[in-house]
Amino acid sequence: MTKPIPSHIQFPKDFLWGCATSAYQIEGSPLADGAGPSTWHRFSHTPGRVQDGDNADITCDHYRRYDSDVDLMRSLGLKSYRFSIAWGRVLPEGTGRVNAAGLDFYERLVDKLLSRGIQPMVTLFHWDLPAALDDRGGWLNRDIAHWFAEYADIVFRRLDDRVQYWTTLNEPWVVADGGYMHGILAPGHRNVFEAPRAAHHLMMAHGAAVQAYRASGRNKIGLVVNIEPKYPASQSEADLAATRRAEAYMNRQYLDPALLGSYPKELLEVFGDAWPHWPDADLKLIKQPIDYVGVNYYTRAVVRAEPNAWPLGSTTVKQKHHTHMETGWEVFPQGLTDTLLWVKEKYGNPPVYITENGACFFDPPQVEGPVLEDPLRVDYLRKHITAVHDAIQRGADIRGYFAWSLFDNFEWAFGFSKRFGLVHMNYETLKRTLKSSAHFYSKVIASNGAALAE
Ligand code: FCB
Repeated sequence: MTKPIPSHIQFPKDFLWGCATSAYQIEGSPLADGAGPSTWHRFSHTPGRVQDGDNADITCDHYRRYDSDVDLMRSLGLKSYRFSIAWGRVLPEGTGRVNAAGLDFYERLVDKLLSRGIQPMVTLFHWDLPAALDDRGGWLNRDIAHWFAEYADIVFRRLDDRVQYWTTLNEPWVVADGGYMHGILAPGHRNVFEAPRAAHHLMMAHGAAVQAYRASGRNKIGLVVNIEPKYPASQSEADLAATRRAEAYMNRQYLDPALLGSYPKELLEVFGDAWPHWPDADLKLIKQPIDYVGVNYYTRAVVRAEPNAWPLGSTTVKQKHHTHMETGWEVFPQGLTDTLLWVKEKYGNPPVYITENGACFFDPPQVEGPVLEDPLRVDYLRKHITAVHDAIQRGADIRGYFAWSLFDNFEWAFGFSKRFGLVHMNYETLKRTLKSSAHFYSKVIASNGAALAE
């Protein structure tokens, strides 16, 4: 089933190897030094929203330990580190008054990274919207495009002299689908009429921030999307149509407007009456030239038509005898090659970074000894990074790869129950312990891929 690993692998020179995290998931101290609360702070402090009542008040305590954490990154040989900025640390009310201490924190982090030879890749929005903006309608208010551009501009002007890689949004689909369609993520709405509006305003915010960047920035800016390739369960007309709808909803709803300037027509079938008619000027704003596409890949879906299933009229068929992660996601490395080739074909081979890829398997809460063995994660990384290499061999313009995640961390509605880290976190003592996947990844980086074949 899985392909053999070729005996000699080398990635392109200057391939950017990194790890990724996000602010709310690892920082802790969410209200420190004048920061304003986020929707995720509120959500996790609302009983019943997050598994086991967990919240990220402490999580990895990275806000206070960033200095030694960067030394740890250096010891792994990371060339780049992808993290996000908490909007509410910079602008506690979301717009207007700048909180100097918040911006200073990210400046110290960037400077520390550079002093250790690590290139920062900075995401401006990884889901923690200032609560004050949620009170003004959040992603349902069209003005959010301006609010976001105002915030982005402040950060660009402070850090663009040192940050080479910027990202506007992380995974807008998850915000619209989890936050506004199904209500399982912040802000917890369940409303089919809101979801397409939230999605559209996210994309307008992306466009407005890229525009702001062109006015003052000199480096690279992109958009990060999660792509889950969809495979039909059979060749029946019904399954093929269901697969097209699923692909339009999750994968094309974001990349099509950003790169092609239009929405897939299947969205009308998906949303029906709830799909608004958007003015052309909005699509013009959304389609700004970007420097790269960030692709987050975890799994695939095999799609079967199911007329009564809301909202897509389809279900995902579980591949019974395949390995699944603790989240229930199937392990399917070929899907990463297919995804990268799909982006290449459909969008004209843009430069791509795999901005997230990783796996959660059970690891114990406490570790004894210097290393935690995590063979399933090592296997996942080996096969997926090899799948990236395959796509490069087949002509895809892939510039870098970021493992999700550096640490075990606060996994959103799953709380601390799911561990994705290459570095184990003991949440009682906050001790960091390398897993064997961290050692493995470190060797892959040092050998520019050759260690995949060992
Ligand atoms: C992605 C998110 C990231 C993390 C991983 C497991 O959807 O971007 O924050 O939760 O999934």
